[in-house]
Amino acid sequence: MGSSWSFFTFMNLCFLFFFLQLTASSSRKPLCHEVEHYALIQFKESLFIDKSWVQLGISNDPSAYCKTALWNLEENSDCCSWDGVECNEETGYVIKLDLSSSCLYGSINSTSTLFHLVHLQWLSLAHNDFNDSKIPSGIMNLSRLLHLNLSISHFSGQIPPEMLELSNLEFLDLSHNSLQG
Ligand SMILES: *[C@@H]1O[C@H](CO)[C@@H](O)[C@H](O)[C@H]1NC(C)=O
Ligand SMILES: *[C@@H]1O[C@H](CO)[C@@H](O)[C@H](O)[C@H]1NC(C)=O
Ligand SMILES: *[C@@H]1O[C@H](CO)[C@@H](O)[C@H](O)[C@H]1NC(C)=O
Ligand SMILES: *[C@@H]1O[C@H](CO)[C@@H](O)[C@H](O)[C@H]1NC(C)=O
Repeated sequence: MGSSWSFFTFMNLCFLFFFLQLTASSSRKPLCHEVEHYALIQFKESLFIDKSWVQLGISNDPSAYCKTALWNLEENSDCCSWDGVECNEETGYVIKLDLSSSCLYGSINSTSTLFHLVHLQWLSLAHNDFNDSKIPSGIMNLSRLLHLNLSISHFSGQIPPEMLELSNLEFLDLSHNSLQG
């Protein structure tokens, strides 16, 4: 009696284990599209991570941290789970990128793979240091943008006329840069 009971318990545990394996492996499948995964990695790698703002406490944003430094760059990692990245749960496309106060430092131009993320609806690069770059005209690729925040991020020069092509924009913050109209 005792031995058959433990046999069934054993079988149940086997089923449970098998079931857990199944659900774990299905939830492990990355949602993120490969092209967007690489676009994000290349964007990250085109910039330096300058921790001094956060370390020196110059950033007045209490939520500031160097998000891209924490991204898991392994091939099978799901970019949709990275800090600051949000994907549409059905399509898997990146729709929101919040890299505000993320220690980013360096120049940016229209060759940036940021502009390959054409499904973005919400983008903040606020409170970083883009080294007096012009706002790249490649921004017009992000035609689905509803929200764009580039405040306090060391952009300078002319606001590109291509910005007018962002016809879905509902929210735009370019404050605290040295921009000309
Ligand atoms: C910052 O801009 C200057 C002037 O354009 C350039 O010489 C320098 O290489 C840039 N630095 C970085 C980190 O992009
Ligand atoms: C754009 O930036 C990339 C890397 O950030 C650089 O290699 C390239 O020379 C730049 N292109 C122009 C036209 O400035
Ligand atoms: C834009 O981002 C900055 C830095 O995160 C934030 O302080 C500011 O409130 C944002 N702009 C608006 C109008 O939400
Ligand atoms: C715009 O997006 C397309 C599709 O992802 C890409 O091939 C193209 O290089 C992008 N243009 C710019 C300026 O990034």
